[in-house]
Amino acid sequence: MIVEEFITKSYPKTIEEGVVTWESPSNIALVKYWGKKEHQIPANPSISFTLSHCKTITTLEFSEKENKIDFSFDVFLNDEQKDDFKPKIETFFKRIEAYLPFLKHYHFVIKTKNTFPHSSGIASSASGMSALALCLTSIDRMLSKNHENLNKSFFNKKASFLARLGSGSACRSIEGSLVAWGKHEAFTESSDLYGVKYPFEVHENFKNYRDTILLVDKGEKQVSSTVGHGLMHNHPFADERFKQAHKNLNDLIAVFKSGDLDAFIKIVESEALTLHAMMMTSMPYFILMKPNTLQIINKIWAYREKTNSKVCFTLDAGANVHMLYPESEAENINQFINNELVEHCQNGQYINDKIGLGAKLL
Ligand code: DP6
Repeated sequence: MIVEEFITKSYPKTIEEGVVTWESPSNIALVKYWGKKEHQIPANPSISFTLSHCKTITTLEFSEKENKIDFSFDVFLNDEQKDDFKPKIETFFKRIEAYLPFLKHYHFVIKTKNTFPHSSGIASSASGMSALALCLTSIDRMLSKNHENLNKSFFNKKASFLARLGSGSACRSIEGSLVAWGKHEAFTESSDLYGVKYPFEVHENFKNYRDTILLVDKGEKQVSSTVGHGLMHNHPFADERFKQAHKNLNDLIAVFKSGDLDAFIKIVESEALTLHAMMMTSMPYFILMKPNTLQIINKIWAYREKTNSKVCFTLDAGANVHMLYPESEAENINQFINNELVEHCQNGQYINDKIGLGAKLL
């Protein structure tokens, strides 16, 4: 699909007011998106597991207003007004206005909450922006006379397309349980504009795959993802990195089919460390891992050596560690965490999650 196909030209219906609620999960990338071109186009394809428990629930109330020349909205997080969220949402609205011509016709009240602690260092932009994009796509659908024009597959694509304009990784949070985003030669359906559900065979080994997020550092990030992505422009290793992402995604296709967890571990851990290596070798350079991040990684490696476990780690743009492992190991890994890893978590906190089915209309 091309960008123009996401433009709603006009609405045959009018609705004075209404309300819609979506819950949308977070996701964890296996092949990382790091680097982008203009208009939120990724520099390389990525793929992620959609999560189940870490999610954002957003209710969007809309009421028609007199003045139709600017955006008007209020935002609440856990029932508290959050004016500091407004600039990001205003930017989002500007980017998506061409695709949702009703945006200036309504006053919106955005009421949002996360199932995970706000200052946990877990990025809420993927779940938050996808939940908001889904609410807005629902309104787009309500205003369109013929709902058939917005069938489920197109609905999901449009929501993902819009979510991407809020935050790149958010476009992978609409569906489950494995979503690829960015043009890749092995996926004919893949697109830089939206995420697509992984179309090939996935081995039983990955069923209910677990992700335990060890909360190492709950502080504000020193460098936002958006600034980090920008540092891939003129990065000395950028071209090789982008090629590597294509190769890793290609190699993962065989791994998902065969269920080869040793090969899975190598790709996923290498992706995580490469992401951080890119940060450490950009100009300016920065380090988001903390001493406890490394302690945990070393303990995971030692545990794997000792027990033949298939647990591995991945990282996003922060210090927290995501531990990925098969469902069959859940009990042992829980013990391992409690015996050896909680001491490296801030206030001993971690979150048990697993791969999930995607966003839900409530
Ligand atoms: C490291 O999606 O947060 O988590 O598009 O600027 O909002 P923006 O960036 P964002 O970047 C996420 C980067 C990552 C890797 C990933 O999720 O693929």
